[in-house]
Amino acid sequence: MDTFEFTKTAAAVLSALLLIVGAKTAIDMNVGHTPEKPGYVLPAPAPAETANAPQGEGAAAPAAAAGSEEVVALLAQANAENGKAIFKKCQGCHVAENGKSSTVGPNLWGVVNRPKASFPGYNYSDAMKKKGGDWSFEELAHFLHGPKTYIPGTKMVFNGLASPSDEADVIAYLATLADTPVALPK
Ligand code: HEC
Repeated sequence: MDTFEFTKTAAAVLSALLLIVGAKTAIDMNVGHTPEKPGYVLPAPAPAETANAPQGEGAAAPAAAAGSEEVVALLAQANAENGKAIFKKCQGCHVAENGKSSTVGPNLWGVVNRPKASFPGYNYSDAMKKKGGDWSFEELAHFLHGPKTYIPGTKMVFNGLASPSDEADVIAYLATLADTPVALPK
């Protein structure tokens, strides 16, 4: 092999190497980047699924229905004073005074028998807007037992009240928050 031949071969080998290294770098860069996207996409559905799974499936759904009837039955002897204490759990997100603007959640003044998603100026979720109907005692009982079970897609991040009597008490308290308090069912 003369020098010229050697140089040519070396050049060929070098360019081949460059190509390989270049290609590998390109592949590495791609490999390095592609997992990042699913990495961002994946965690989003995951918490949503876990958040829905315990409530959306299995025992929780029928329990919500049975629970709400029980709650409505309990309203006759509900204790609005105790409900006021329980309402502290709601106050992180809700005001319930006439004329105040909404905070994290809509103002709950006069919520009993109010059409759903109707507090002026509050930006409700689509799920809440689509639900329709008024906040009757029964609807409130369904919703407060398991907000995400009853209205999947609601942006009320609250697991619900486990105790039917606490729930009845808080609904009885909500019924007092109006110019004309709503009479409880007898
Ligand atoms: C972590 C914040 C948070 C807590 C705690 C919370 N809520 Fe809510 N609530 C919201 C949000 C946000 C919405 C709006 C939901 C939507 O648009 O999907 C809402 C909506 C509601 C609605 C529907 C009102 C309307 O105008 O249609 C009622 C009723 C309600 N909440 C009652 C309660 C009660 C009672 C409690 C306490 C037992 C409570 N919430 C606790 C955030 C909260």
